[in-house]
This record gives sequence, structure tokens and C-alpha cells, in this order.
Amino acid sequence: MKIKVFAGQDELDRYAAGLLLHIVSQQERPVLGLATGSTPIGIYQAMVQAASQSGLSFRHATTYNLDEYVGLAPDHEQSYRYYMEKHLFRHLDIPASQTHIPDGRAVDLQAECRRYDAMLAAQPLDVQLLGIGHNGHIGFNEPAEELRSGTHVVQLKEETRAANARFFNHQDEVPDRALTMGVGSILKAKQIILVARGADKAQIVKQALQGPITTRVPASLLQTHAHVTVLLDRDAGREWMEDGTKVEMAHS
Ligand code: GLP
Repeated sequence: MKIKVFAGQDELDRYAAGLLLHIVSQQERPVLGLATGSTPIGIYQAMVQAASQSGLSFRHATTYNLDEYVGLAPDHEQSYRYYMEKHLFRHLDIPASQTHIPDGRAVDLQAECRRYDAMLAAQPLDVQLLGIGHNGHIGFNEPAEELRSGTHVVQLKEETRAANARFFNHQDEVPDRALTMGVGSILKAKQIILVARGADKAQIVKQALQGPITTRVPASLLQTHAHVTVLLDRDAGREWMEDGTKVEMAHS
């Protein structure tokens, strides 16, 4: 596992964007696993900027997002489809038919999960970009006694709804269910990039990556993956710097 701590947000964003754009430029049919939340926004901006400067096309790329709220329409401002269109897709030349997000409005949610898994099986992820929740969730895989491997419907924890309430007018408006790729699907990605920013993420990142591997901290399962890159800002990375663990420091 490679851990890099960045002095500034821009450096982190450009570095992460570079990893993803490298895959897009090198692979004949690149398949990117993408994430939402506040963490990747700067990375998507950096990708859009670099792609437009270099003229890199995404016409041959396919994307799969981790998750979506149940019940929100694609044009709902807090749906993850809306988020992805706003921050990334509409600024690239990627065909809409090649961008995939679980359909949280599907009439048969179980069938939608099976459909998503079938697509993922046919198009394995070259890379999965991940943020992390304060309780160690990845995608919407919440801490539990048991974790699911494939795409499934999840009941969101109140702490997760509370954390995400900042994007809604009121916490009551945050859906209580979501569709999420399972931990098994995430771990099948050839490469994983985990990104965390801010002092409030420092402890959970440390616990997930150095603590016991447990379903109670879903991100701890990443320790079992052979190709994980962890990108942290100075605040999220402070626990690593303080305990003397060897981390690579990136300075501008
Ligand atoms: C959400 C998303 C996750 C994300 C996490 C952290 O619940 N489902 O994919 O990683 O929250 O969000 P943020 O980056 O805003 O801290």
C-alpha cells in the first residue's frame, strides 16, 4: 500500500487526476470506478482541466459509480447522477451510454442490483476511486456484522444521513436507503485510489489501514488488496506523520 500525504489540496487533486487520466490515455477500453461526496470534487475539476488542455478524449472510456440514493430522480440536485453530470460528465466527451450509476428509482431494486453486477462482471474496473465515511464506510457499505459482496440495497446509518445532511435542506430529506456496489465488487478493481481530506478523517483512515481487518470498518478490507494508493491531505495524514510510519510526502 502506497500512502502519500500532500501539503496542498491542489497537489493532491492534480496527482489523483493524473493517475486516472493515465489509465484513460493508456488503455484501449478504460473502465473507471468513480465516487461522489465532497472529497473527489477537486479531482474531477483537475481531470476536466487537464483533459481539456491536453485534448484527451474519453470517448473510449466507461465509468461505473459506486452508489446512488434510493428514490431520487436523476435531475434531483442531491442525486449522485446529478452530481456526476455537474462535476465531470458534462465537461468531457464521454458518451452518456457509457456512464453508469445504479438507478435508485428502479421499480425492482433487486433486479437493478443484478443488472449492475452483470455489467461490472462484463467490464472489470481498471481503477476504483474511493472516499471514506467517518465510520469507515466505502461507497455506502456501512459497518455491519456481515458485508455484502455485490451490489445491494442498504439502509443508511443515521450518522451517515447526518453527515450527508449538509447537502440537503434538512436531514429528513436525506433518503434512508441507497444502492451501493458491494465490497467484493470494489476489491475486484485492479487498482484502488483512496482519498481523504481533513482532520476529521485522520483517525478513521489510520484505523482502517492499520487496525484490524473487520466488517465493522468496511474500509479495513482494503488492506487485503494488492494495489491500493492512499492520498491524504496534511490534516487527514497527520496520524501517520506523528507515529513515524513511512509515508511519502509530496511538496509543491
Ligand atoms: C458518502 C458516499 C461515499 C463517500 C462518503 C464521504 O456517504 N456514499 O462514497 O466516500 O460519503 O463523503 P465526503 O467525501 O463528502 O466526506
